Amino acid sequence: MHRKKEIVTLDGPSGVGKSTISRKIAASLGYTYLDTGAMYRAVGLHLQQMGVDAGDCDAVTANLNTLTIRLLPARDEFSDAGVLLNGVDVSDQIRTPEMSMLASRVSAIPVVRAKLTEMQRAIGSQGRLVAEGRDLGTVVFPDAAHKFFLDADIQERARRRVRQLRLHGSQADEEKTLEMIRQRDRYDSERNVAPLRKAEDAFLIDTTGITIEEVCARILERVLSSRPGQHL
Ligand code: DC
Repeated sequence: MHRKKEIVTLDGPSGVGKSTISRKIAASLGYTYLDTGAMYRAVGLHLQQMGVDAGDCDAVTANLNTLTIRLLPARDEFSDAGVLLNGVDVSDQIRTPEMSMLASRVSAIPVVRAKLTEMQRAIGSQGRLVAEGRDLGTVVFPDAAHKFFLDADIQERARRRVRQLRLHGSQADEEKTLEMIRQRDRYDSERNVAPLRKAEDAFLIDTTGITIEEVCARILERVLSSRPGQHL
């Protein structure tokens, strides 16, 4: 019988709490945590630094071939995953609202997706992974054992994002943040390659009005109950 890979995927739009929840789930299970959004952010930053136009396919491809991305564990439970881009720590640089929009734009480029999907599959080849992003359950790990799709009311997502940005010391305006989230939802779900979509076999959780702890408990319950001989 074909056994599915011991991989947990969490997909969903920005601001649903994917990162915090995925980090907690990975820590509870003792699995590696993979923040694929951080990889798209690093590519966006790299192309910007090199002055490459996202529409110039040859230049994008050439720059991708010389790019190294290494993910670093989060510094603490409030921090996102860190990133070394060509050996330089860009963990803070990639977390600005500008980089969110740029990451969304470069993530629609087919060669960028192909390259990052390949890297993500290599990281997941041994299983025991919690991977979060937009296309983990649909494209990157279609045979993952546990798939979740998180969603939430857009106003609440904007409020959460503002709180997160302020926690990191940035000024954040709720109206502007809401508009950016709306734009990013559109880019991420309307692009041709690997758009944001719930995998048919993913379990949907609406996180509006429920705590992070409650979402984690629901996810862990499903993951652990599907393991033979495991009880909570
Ligand atoms: O999860 P995030 O906000 O860090 O992601 C930044 C952008 O990267 C997001 O707007 C779309 C893109 N992305 C993607 O297209 N596919 C993924 N698996 C992860 C992120």
